[in-house]
Amino acid sequence: MQPNLRPITRETTDVSSAPGDSNADLHRHQESVPLPHGNRADVRKLSFWYGKTQALKEVNLPVVDRKVTALIGPSGCGKSTLLRCFNRMHDLYPGNRYDGEIRLYPEDENLVAIDPGLVRLRIGMVFQKPNPFPKSIYANVAAGLEVRGIKKRSVLDERVERALRHAALWDEVKDRLNGSAYGLSGGQQQRLCIARALAPEPEMILFDEPTSALDPLATAKIEDLVQQLAGEVTILIVTHNMQQASRISDFTAFMLMGEMVEYGNTDQVFTAPEDPRTDQYITGRFG
Ligand SMILES: Nc1ncnc2c1ncn2[C@@H]1O[C@H](COP(=O)(O)OP(=O)(O)OP(=O)(O)O)[C@@H](O)[C@H]1O
Ligand SMILES: [Mg+2]
Repeated sequence: MQPNLRPITRETTDVSSAPGDSNADLHRHQESVPLPHGNRADVRKLSFWYGKTQALKEVNLPVVDRKVTALIGPSGCGKSTLLRCFNRMHDLYPGNRYDGEIRLYPEDENLVAIDPGLVRLRIGMVFQKPNPFPKSIYANVAAGLEVRGIKKRSVLDERVERALRHAALWDEVKDRLNGSAYGLSGGQQQRLCIARALAPEPEMILFDEPTSALDPLATAKIEDLVQQLAGEVTILIVTHNMQQASRISDFTAFMLMGEMVEYGNTDQVFTAPEDPRTDQYITGRFG
């Protein structure tokens, strides 16, 4: 079920604005713009090919604003492929091709047709394996800000602290900001990567199995974090863990062999799936 059309406070994404100004973040340009059906994005008949191999087949998916949408499905069904369309990672490799659209609101522009560099500034991604840069903790979080042209030290300091607090890592690293990111535990590194993704204040964050390399305690921390972040930022998360999807997501989409089989409220998908294939998958009978 989709929320009705509703006005939300929305920040325009003027990436060229006033670098170095502490208020030059996305929250400065607030205006009230209605999002269609409360969606931040709408995938419409999206197909994708790796060369001659078609990995997505006319996929449709609404992505509700500031909620968590989980993507589930067996290995090879196209979850990561779909996620990577959202930040145009595929454009880094020759021979890849899109057809269809990802409408991004409220601009109402086709995400797969605009400048990939701009898309990556607006949509952050966190991967399965923590991948901090071989730099200090501070430099990792500041990296995305510097790309945006923010250079003033006091502004960087403030934004780095804010992102680290947001990622529930500040207290653990505040006395070692200049230490190497590689000196952190796996769970801390993943929260650092989340802080790095959060620092430029993106419209959406994509998570591709962000906890599969972590122990249960670190996993619980990331799950808490994802839930806290929803409400502020729109989240699309791939997970193989059905309990995780049901714990942390508001909406769930089930994919099979490049196709979108079912989408709905997480409670509904897990308790009363409409498609028998969804039922088989979530009850562990295939995949
Ligand atoms: N770089 C690539 N070149 C060619 N085919 C690819 C490439 N990456 C993925 N594929 C194919 O596209 C399909 C979808 O792969 P994708 O990685 O999106 O699956 P997934 O659902 O994320 O699986 P997993 O759960 O194992 O991560 C698979 O058949 C895969 O073999
Ligand atoms: Mg994958």
